Parts: sequence; C-alpha cells; structure tokens
Amino acid sequence: MSLPEIDDRPDLYDAAERWSVDELRATQLERLRWSLTHAYENVPHYREAFDAKGFDPREVTSLDDVRHAPFTSKADLRDNYPFGMFAVPREQVNRVHASSGTTGRPTVVGYTGQDIATWAGLMARSIRAAGGRPGDVVHVAYGYGLFTGGLGAHYGAEALGCTVVPVSGGMTERQVQLITDFGPRVIMVTPSYFLSVLDEMERAGIDPATSSLQVGIFGAEPWTDAMRREIEQRAGMHAVDIYGLSEVMGPGVAQECVDTKDGLHIWEDHFYPEVIDPVTEEPVAEGEVGELVFTSLTKQAMPVVRYRTRDLTRLLPGTARPGMRRMEKITGRTDDMMIVRGVNVFPTQIEELVLATPGLTPYFQCVLTRPGRMDELTVLVEAEEGLGSAEREGLGRQVSGMIKHRIGITAGVRVVEPGGVERSIGKARRIVDQRPHD
Ligand code: DLL
Repeated sequence: MSLPEIDDRPDLYDAAERWSVDELRATQLERLRWSLTHAYENVPHYREAFDAKGFDPREVTSLDDVRHAPFTSKADLRDNYPFGMFAVPREQVNRVHASSGTTGRPTVVGYTGQDIATWAGLMARSIRAAGGRPGDVVHVAYGYGLFTGGLGAHYGAEALGCTVVPVSGGMTERQVQLITDFGPRVIMVTPSYFLSVLDEMERAGIDPATSSLQVGIFGAEPWTDAMRREIEQRAGMHAVDIYGLSEVMGPGVAQECVDTKDGLHIWEDHFYPEVIDPVTEEPVAEGEVGELVFTSLTKQAMPVVRYRTRDLTRLLPGTARPGMRRMEKITGRTDDMMIVRGVNVFPTQIEELVLATPGLTPYFQCVLTRPGRMDELTVLVEAEEGLGSAEREGLGRQVSGMIKHRIGITAGVRVVEPGGVERSIGKARRIVDQRPHD
C-alpha cells in the first residue's frame, strides 16, 4: 500500500535543526557549564555527589569533561522524594509530573514556566519532524495526568498550531468515533494501544486504511520495525517513533523523522547523550550498544546530570538533521532483559518473530516462571479469529522453533484465542514475572 506523501518543510525548522556539528558543540559546552553549575549550586544532592568525586563544574572546559561527573539514578530521585531534586524554590515550579514505578514511592519531576515552554517547543519540533503540520487535527490518546505523555503531546501540538483533541487513553469505542467524526491527520498514542484502536475500527466495520489518519507518533514503550510495517500496511499511514522519559523531560527528547525513518534524532541542543557499558560504567566505543545516559543542558527546575535511563541503544551520526546524532530504535531496557538459561532475551525479539508469523496477532506477553532451579519462558500470544485448537497448537510449535533457531533458547509458546492476552490502554506489560521472590 502506498503511504501518504509528506512534503519536508525546512522553512519550519528551528534554527538548531540547521546547525553544523561545530555550532552545536559550542552551544552544548556553554549550556553544559551552566547546567552543571546550576545543579551544583542549588541541589544539595548534586553538591554532595560532585564534592565526593572531586568534580568542580567550573573547571569543565570540554564536553568530554562530563565523564568526570557522577551518575544520577532513579534511586537518587526516590531518596530525595518529593521535591529534593528541584533547583529552584518550589514556588517557581509551575507543574509536576510523576511516574508511579513498580514499587514504593513515585519519582517526581518539576518544570518552571520556561521549562514547559522549552518542552512545548521541542514537542512541536518533534511533531513536525514526524510529518505533522500547523493546522492539523491531532488526536492525543496518550494518558493525561501525572504521566508526561498526554500533556507533553498536547502542549507541543498546540505550540505547532494544531487543533488538539485531548482524548487520553481508554474508552476505545469513543476513540474510534472521534477519529471518524473529527478527521484527525495525526494520532499520538502508544503503539500497543493503537493496535486495540485498529481492532475496534475493524469491529465497527471501518477499514483503517480509509481513515483520515496519515501520521502516527508512537512511543513510551519499545516497538520494532516489524510492528511499524504491520501498522503502516494495515492503516495506510506513516508510523514514526518518539522517545523520552519523565526524568529528562517527557516525550520529545528524541524523534524519528518521517522522511528517513532511520532512528531518532536526539534534540542535542537541550540534552547531551552518552552511551555507557552498564556494568563497567565506562563509555562504549563509538557506535556500540550500551545504556543511554543524559545530561540536561537547559532545564531550570530539575536539571539532571548523567541520568541513567536503563534504555539500551547506540548512537549514530545525523541524517535528516545532519548536526544532531541519532539513537537507534530501543531494543529494550536493562531491567526488561530476560535471562533464560544464560541467554539474554528482550521482548522486542519475540515481537519480531510473532509478527513474522501469519495467523498470529501482535498481542503477546512473556511469562517467566521458575518451576525448578532454572527460569522458564512461556510466550502467550493471541491467534487471529477463526483458528481451531489444532491450528493454534501448530502455530505455537512453529514459533517455538523460530525462537530456538533465531534466539537460541527453548521457550514454550501458547497460542490463545482472540482476547486471551491482557490489553493495556497505555504502555503494554510485556513481561509477567511469576518467579518466586528470593
Ligand atoms: O514514556 C514519555 C513518553 C511519552 C515518551 C509518550 C514517548 C511518548 P516515562 O513514563 O518516564 O516517560 O517512561 C520512560 O519509557 O526510559 C523507555 O524505557 C520507555 N520509552 C519511552 N519512549 C520509548 C520509545 C515516557 N520510543 C521510559 N521506544 C523510557 C522504547 C521508550 N522505549
């Protein structure tokens, strides 16, 4: 199926999108010094951590010097709950967001009015790079609330000059009705929830390829190129990747450009990236995969210094925006990695195989158990409508064979009837850990 044509509009770019690498590096250095000093002078946690390492931000003379600064982790944010990481008086904080996390206290992040404006500007830039244009109707189905997805997308689309439909996640029938009635050109939603929206359209007798949607801006969870092909073919629209995390800002830290779809350009004028070996904590060689680490360059309310994202990717040179580096689509998180009999496996690897198998839907979960001393992986995946149990069993054996052959592990595959795998209205839960707690 041919996808809608989208004109590139360099006349709409921000100045930074045209900078040369030299121009970018000079601005980054100036901003890095400001940001590190701001953190040191205003956040007791950073003052102590810098002092303990003998790191003086005023002595930074090159971007590489950031490597001497201490890392920051989610635990540091939790220890300073709720507002201890703020670098401005609480009265100057215009908004907070929080992520619930799996256990214990949420992580709280804060923004000044200026931070919100910067974020909206970067989200506008991201939506534009994804193919959104001023005047578009933009349907936002990321969750609104403490999660950064909904409001982040909302302010960005408004700043770009779009008509925003703030739907949030859930009530899938209503999502379909609003898409049909309002004719959005752009949708912003997690890729896994978009699949449910597509299913609902088909249930309502609407061919998704005939809808008004031309661009989907999908993120907040890992997804593969196989999933991109599935969505693009089914819905006749462009599917592009957006990345971000609350601690660093929210969505809009990096964005894939619709004209190249070759990984995500990091908006390096605001975030300085590094990739490290998560075990040795040393930088990896250029172009190698490792853990992504960010230092914010302009954030006022909550600067972050060498924040360990736990996301695994590698840095590549810029293409559609030559001055800014790209990050490859994320393979997974260090904490999403399943170790099955010594082999490292990510849910994205399973996703590719499931999507390559006709008769299966993209709904799947990886269930980890430990019946004896070893971990076992069972993949639960939904069949398409109309398959009998013998056919489902056959598909299960087929996928299990592919997992053995391509990933090198033994995994059971249970192909269940349509509707048999848990659905989410936001981020999908790909790993269900049923192992006993030690
Ligand atoms: O998920 C922000 C966001 C909202 C990004 C909407 C994109 C769209 P958190 O809830 O703090 O923030 O979760 C951040 O989600 O560290 C990644 O592990 C994962 N993640 C976000 N975007 C992507 C992506 C938002 N495009 C965590 N690909 C991050 C893979 C992603 N993983």
